Amino acid sequence: MSTPTHTLVMTGATRGIGLEAAKELLRRDPGVHLVVLARASSAAQVIPQLQALSAHVSAIDVDLASTASVDAAAGQVEDLLDTGELPTLRRVVCNAGVSLDSALHTTADGYETTFAVNVLSTHLLLRRLHPHLRRPARVVVTVSDAHFGDLRHTGGTFPSPRWTTPEVLFHPGAYPRSGTVRAGRRAYATSKLGGIHLVHEWARRLPDGVDIVAYNPSLVIGTGLARDAGGVSELLMRYVVPALAPTPLVDTPVAAGHKLADAVTGRTVAMTGAYLHRTTVTSSSMESYDSQRENALWTWLESAAQRTGPGGS
Ligand SMILES: NC(=O)c1ccc[n+]([C@@H]2O[C@H](COP(=O)([O-])OP(=O)(O)OC[C@H]3O[C@@H](n4cnc5c(N)ncnc54)[C@H](OP(=O)(O)O)[C@@H]3O)[C@@H](O)[C@H]2O)c1
Repeated sequence: MSTPTHTLVMTGATRGIGLEAAKELLRRDPGVHLVVLARASSAAQVIPQLQALSAHVSAIDVDLASTASVDAAAGQVEDLLDTGELPTLRRVVCNAGVSLDSALHTTADGYETTFAVNVLSTHLLLRRLHPHLRRPARVVVTVSDAHFGDLRHTGGTFPSPRWTTPEVLFHPGAYPRSGTVRAGRRAYATSKLGGIHLVHEWARRLPDGVDIVAYNPSLVIGTGLARDAGGVSELLMRYVVPALAPTPLVDTPVAAGHKLADAVTGRTVAMTGAYLHRTTVTSSSMESYDSQRENALWTWLESAAQRTGPGGS
């Protein structure tokens, strides 16, 4: 059995695109130790599959909707790196995401759940783990072309994002008629815009050789994303989207997972801060390049981190 030489920490590896990416990353690289950050019940279902591919897989329990849980999980990773139980950290993949049936879901911390999982948890993890990354290193954050909010990119399945201020967006009720399915979808699109803003801001701050890229899988059939999205989302995903499967509009989880793996390993070449549409470097929306907004988001996230457990100080 080979000894692992480097560590990859990943969220969202328990189903859908992330699970397929995790399998592919293990197949491609016998030198990697994969740390799956996931709810224990979800990890229990997939760790045996992953360990069938490599002995170098472990799981750490986390609920990304809870700042205390993210803080505790990040602390466990740090401890294992510090003691040498995990080899050098070279990759972090923030792939987990949720799409909910309203913009009123609230975490134990009082944040709107879509933004808490899709944006805040990414920042909290990165601010704890980035000092441990050794170059050449890469961070990948899974975003979505839902952030464009136009017909060409979403086929009308998502309303346009509506950015206001982080103070408003991270709290329940940020949109008109926040109790509706449409507002939940708007929260998702807006959170994915937030994910791109976050990548831009981290790209400005990370040292040379520690890259961060945004990966957009585009429309992927048959993942769990629509399960809590309400309305016709699940029906669309189950019956309409599969009809598009033979077209280039849609990827399977396996295809999208392999493309995520390409982004993670650098097989898809991209500068830090880049937006990857599947395997192509391209531009995200015009709106997504707003450095003032990104700085304001950073400031808010940092103040939220200060309110969070021991990692915040
Ligand atoms: N499917 C698409 O068409 C599409 C398009 C564009 C972008 N994306 C993005 O791709 C990424 C993966 O989505 P997917 O389609 O593969 O969806 P999925 O099958 O629902 O996978 C979502 C992953 O996130 C994890 N997760 C969600 N909430 C969590 C929490 N509170 N704590 C810990 N883990 C949590 C899930 O864990 P559990 O197993 O515990 O639920 C699961 O591993 C997401 O960021 C999504 O926004 C998807």
